[in-house]
Amino acid sequence: TLVTHISGLVTNDPSLGSGSPRSNTADSASDAPVGLIQDAAVVIDGDRIAWVGESSKAPATDNRVDAEGRAGIPGFVDSHSHLVFAGDRTAEFNARMSGRAYSAGGIRTTVAATRAATDEQLAATLDRYLAEALRQGTTTMETKSGYGLTPGDESRALRVAASRTDEVTYLGAHIVAPELADDPAAYVDLVTGDMLDACAPHARWVDVFCEQGAFDGDQARTVLTAGMKKGLLPRIHANQLTFGPGVQLAVELGAASADHCTHLTDADVDALAQSDTVATLLPGAEFSTRAEWPDARRLLDAGATVALASDCNPGSSFTSSVAFCIALAVRDMGMTPDEAVWSATAGGAAALRRSDVGRITVGARADLVLLDAPSHVHLAYRPGVPLVSSVWQAGLKVL
Ligand code: NIG
Ligand code: FE
Repeated sequence: TLVTHISGLVTNDPSLGSGSPRSNTADSASDAPVGLIQDAAVVIDGDRIAWVGESSKAPATDNRVDAEGRAGIPGFVDSHSHLVFAGDRTAEFNARMSGRAYSAGGIRTTVAATRAATDEQLAATLDRYLAEALRQGTTTMETKSGYGLTPGDESRALRVAASRTDEVTYLGAHIVAPELADDPAAYVDLVTGDMLDACAPHARWVDVFCEQGAFDGDQARTVLTAGMKKGLLPRIHANQLTFGPGVQLAVELGAASADHCTHLTDADVDALAQSDTVATLLPGAEFSTRAEWPDARRLLDAGATVALASDCNPGSSFTSSVAFCIALAVRDMGMTPDEAVWSATAGGAAALRRSDVGRITVGARADLVLLDAPSHVHLAYRPGVPLVSSVWQAGLKVL
């Protein structure tokens, strides 16, 4: 398939084209290496990108699609979600919007509902949100366990997830299971023992919620190192609600990503900047918990790699819209539109240690999104507007 006349194709390859035109009112923020090609064309062969360039130079193919000047971006790589769950926390959100604070304890509500659900119900809910995300341009989705908290409930969550995505994360250490609330050490033993044995075959990643009300730095290190010994790769929920040891632990262990990064010391920022650990920012969580925004500008200026993801979950961030997260990051976190789009595509790929997604380059997986807009900047410029017009995922036109 040849897709032609794409206006402003974001490739995430800086050697292809240029960045967005800078206006004379722009601040000194650096532009991300989005590699923008005007009047671009893409050739999709099977599940891969076979050619990228200007429409006028495109090779002839039998199947031709005219984008009619729509902007093109790589499919979003949403590197952080919690989609294996049951139930609903509308009441908790409603209470929060009348002034109650968010705490990790709300997770228990979803744990009870998830344990009571059948495998079929969990699969149907996951499918619903994966489809919802795909319609909004997300072609790669990471998702986690963490609402089961027993060996059986965690491993079934991972089995359900693994039948739908390669990016599956074991988060048995989300909170201490309610039945072991009096004995957190016993719960950590379970998470690093029988539960890990049951879960490791179904997951790629191990994660822990390192936070007050969840797990402290020592417990988090124990959980992540046990997972690593079983061949899982570490990532972490760090520094979301309070300052804490999570970011430093992520860097120490070579984690692919430290997620949330809302409360960072200068030393945390430096540690991220000097490491390969991606800072994954989840502004949907700050939006839905009425918390302060993470400071993307500070991280970028220090030289850290920043990803943007949805954190889609029924408690702290019930949005599957990466475009919404881009708009928040641009409006309130100091990112340029180029940076935000890069972070939601190539940045998410970096947070998942993937080089085959999040970019439109020869050999990459053919995940292409066309927008009903002349530029990717409209993702921030037109917040809340459903701009996704067409989606190819691994070469298949799915929308
Ligand atoms: O990433 N922070 C921990 N976990 C989720 C929230 C889960 C929930 O409230 O159900 C998060 O925000
Ligand atoms: Fe999360």
